[in-house]
Amino acid sequence: GAPVEVDMSRVEPGMLVTVEWRGKPVWVLHRTEQMLDVLGKHDDQLVDPQSIEPQQPAYAKNATRSIKPQYLVAVGICTHLGCIPLYRPEVAPADLGQDWPGGFYCPCHGSKFDLAGRVARNVPAPHNLEIPPHEYVSDTRLLIG
Ligand code: FES
Repeated sequence: GAPVEVDMSRVEPGMLVTVEWRGKPVWVLHRTEQMLDVLGKHDDQLVDPQSIEPQQPAYAKNATRSIKPQYLVAVGICTHLGCIPLYRPEVAPADLGQDWPGGFYCPCHGSKFDLAGRVARNVPAPHNLEIPPHEYVSDTRLLIG
């Protein structure tokens, strides 16, 4: 399939935009400083905090699982049975618990992922969310695929 282009100037801080790539939803999230601060403070709650498993290209195997720290680009499909997780960025909401760092919540069987798409321990999903191949062709243009 053809690569999909995203105009990053329309993705404001805190905003999640979903685009379709090869029939899959791909999320583009503009993480705020506050969101980035939370990452890295809850590694003990994660299955694969260092992204050891090959769920991302080499250039996204880092602390934020991204090329630019502020932008997460991830396939929005739960690694359990393929449902689409919900964007739940708030920290410690009443329904998801005090240890929730903010991220994505799969309504099908309760899997949780952080704002880098890393899966929580003790949920059905076995792997971090997939990071698709992508590149920035200019400051404001992202190419997925
Ligand atoms: Fe997401 Fe089962 S499909 S938890």
